[in-house]
Order: sequence, then C-alpha cells, then structure tokens
Amino acid sequence: MSNNEGSGLSVDASRDGQTSRREVVIASAPARIATSATARPISRVSLNVNGAVREIELDARATLLDALREHLHLTGTKKGCDHGQCGACTVHINGRRVNSCLTLAVMHDGDTITTIEGLGTPDALHPMQAAFVEHDGYQCGYCTSGQIMSAVALLKEPCGPSDADVKELMSGNICRCGAYPNIVAAIQQVRKSD
Ligand code: FES
Ligand code: FES
Repeated sequence: MSNNEGSGLSVDASRDGQTSRREVVIASAPARIATSATARPISRVSLNVNGAVREIELDARATLLDALREHLHLTGTKKGCDHGQCGACTVHINGRRVNSCLTLAVMHDGDTITTIEGLGTPDALHPMQAAFVEHDGYQCGYCTSGQIMSAVALLKEPCGPSDADVKELMSGNICRCGAYPNIVAAIQQVRKSD
C-alpha cells in the first residue's frame, strides 16, 4: 500500500514503489490553473488610439497587442511570435515604436497609440506606405504593417545614410518572405525625399 494513495500518485507509486518529481508536478498542475482562472483581474484603461479616445475593460494581464486586436478590432497590427522577436506587432506609443506584444495595455492609460490604420488611408497613403507599394516591399504582407510602423519611426531616429545603417535599425523586424532589399529601397526613397 502506498503512502500516496488518494493523492493522484498512487498508481505510479504502487507500481514500482517510487514516485518521481515529474509525476508530482503533473498531479498538482490542474489545481494551480483552476485557482488562477477564477481570479481574473479586470482593469479599465483609456487609450488615445489613432486620434480617438477608447475606454476599454480588459484582463489586467492583456498585452497592448491583444487589446488592439481583440478589444478594438484593429487587426492591421499582426501577432507573429508574441515574444518580441519578429516586430510584426510594432505600433507607436507617444511617437516611439514599441513591440505591442511585450507591453501590458494597463501600462498605457492615457497614452497616444498609433497603429497602421492611423497612418494613412487607401486613398491617401502615408509616403512610407506608398513607397512600399512602389518598391514591392512585401510578398505575403504579414510583416508589412510592423515594417512600415518601424520605418516611419526610424525617420525621426538617429540613423546613418547607408543601406547598412537602415538594415541595422530595422533588424528587429523579420520578413520571412525575404523582401529586405525592397524594404530598404522604400525606406531610403522616403528618407531622401524628407
Ligand atoms: Fe510582437 Fe513578434 S508578435 S515581436
Ligand atoms: Fe511575408 Fe514579410 S512579406 S513575411
């Protein structure tokens, strides 16, 4: 008879007389998940998004990316890695580019957020959007809104004149289609006409 009988570990314990550490973790995990799921902290946050004040109630643990996509339905901002590694989720917060998957929405109460939807319209593209079209700076387009948001922020950042300088400052934005030469060409065109 095992000492663990009734704890969820009795089958393994009675089979070979030993209970591994891994088995203990597996047995206790459901209880932890249930506890956290019943205590969802709800917060209210006010964001100025693309020129309009938006009041939303959301889980205090929600990222700014999820607030934009799931609560405000601004799906132009993309979720690529959700870990700060691809740049697809880039938006501007108070004029500076930020990976929105890496910051909580509740940290930005009162802040000014710009997404790709606030940059231009189909009839009046931002010069950077027009340059991406002109230079074919995309293929599938999944990374493109993040690329353009980063590129527009780059215009106000200290950046040397060469293509290598642009590549360095755009290195946080990954394009799996490999449209990098065209992206750099688009950015350089806008920089030269600025
Ligand atoms: Fe945010 Fe990839 S989704 S960096
Ligand atoms: Fe497809 Fe960049 S255009 S990932």
